[in-house]
Amino acid sequence: MSGPDPAGPVDFLLTGIGQLVTCDPGLGEGPLGLVEGGAVAASGGVVVYAGPEAGLPDREDADGATRVDAGRRAVVPGFVDAHTHLVFAGDRADEFAARLRGVGYEEALAAGGGINRTVRDTRAASDAELEATAAARLATALRYGTTTLEAKSGYGLTVDDERRSLEALARVAERSPVEVVPTFLGAHLIPEEFANDRDGYLDLLEHEMLPACVPLAEFVDAFCDRGALTVSESRRVLEAGARHGLAAKLHANELGSTGGAALAAELGCVSADHLLFCDEREAKGLAAAGTVAVLLPGTSFLLRTGRAAPVGVLRDARVTLALGTDCNPGTCYSESMQLMVALACVHGGLTPEEAVLAATDGAARAVGRGGRVGRLAPGAACDLVLLAGRSYLDLAYHLGVNLAATVVKGGAVVAGDGAGP
Ligand code: NIG
Ligand code: FE
Repeated sequence: MSGPDPAGPVDFLLTGIGQLVTCDPGLGEGPLGLVEGGAVAASGGVVVYAGPEAGLPDREDADGATRVDAGRRAVVPGFVDAHTHLVFAGDRADEFAARLRGVGYEEALAAGGGINRTVRDTRAASDAELEATAAARLATALRYGTTTLEAKSGYGLTVDDERRSLEALARVAERSPVEVVPTFLGAHLIPEEFANDRDGYLDLLEHEMLPACVPLAEFVDAFCDRGALTVSESRRVLEAGARHGLAAKLHANELGSTGGAALAAELGCVSADHLLFCDEREAKGLAAAGTVAVLLPGTSFLLRTGRAAPVGVLRDARVTLALGTDCNPGTCYSESMQLMVALACVHGGLTPEEAVLAATDGAARAVGRGGRVGRLAPGAACDLVLLAGRSYLDLAYHLGVNLAATVVKGGAVVAGDGAGP
């Protein structure tokens, strides 16, 4: 068998793949590294072979392996959802309906609705409720093929409620096969009770909330936008997070051209998310800083402004693209990365190849796991989705149904046909 010799025996073997999407251009055709007639072998959860089935030598030590026959269908790496707000209570379906009648997102937010309302609901919810609702959403994401998922706090906005949001997330993550990447978003909004003392809230965030949440988080994030935090407020939050060892992400330029993209580049954020407004200079800055652009096509679609992130500008500047659902009760209530791939193509202007790469390898980079997940190559986690169809194109083409026939995480079947009762 080619590639590094596994430390242990092969314990997972997937054969009969029609189209294998490795997302490693070194392993096959084109940017998706396509292999026709492929096979994947893993040992201890890690891929030891991905390539043509004809190149897969017999392994006597594979006798006890879990064997799956793909039946000539397509296989893609497990999806990486680079941006979710998984922990929240309540819903805002009525606000969504009002938006369909023409009431703007910012209008609802300014009137005390929007994020403010979910903050009230989240504070009132029990730990058990926060945990159960987040667990249900994570289970849905897994059924739709997501094997790694970033999740933010940000609807607590008190020391206690931010901490218990992240604690609920940690308990959910412990029981799920999905690898969860936790982000502290105490800077989602200045809460209503601090409306006249914004610095007071940031003092609390820096000196009490961050120390309480740092052990539970990997990233720090801020909503730098109109009606949320200013550039200088966001800078303060991300710099404070960095002093505590948290890598930075930033909600940037979703509602306006507010300087968030430039700040993300200046601070070397791992990702800048949304970017519905982004000019050439900002895109070049992101590329130079190695900051990944996380596009959230569900959100731009559902905000109904007709605007999508300027993918041509980002592409020309060679910014790495990633996708996320943004799963949240306000702007996009969806756990499906399959839908995001479709919307990225039909509404966001990405090619299907760009969209699939952004939903896997690109998103892995956006959560600091580039090369470790999001591709099917020796040394990467054996996380994959056996699709119901014969091509990755079905993700954009065969809309609104769950195409994840079987989901594998770390070399184990965890959802779909093969998951058992
Ligand atoms: O990413 N932009 C900030 N946060 C979410 C929306 C949150 C909400 O409306 O509850 C977003 O779109
Ligand atoms: Fe968001």
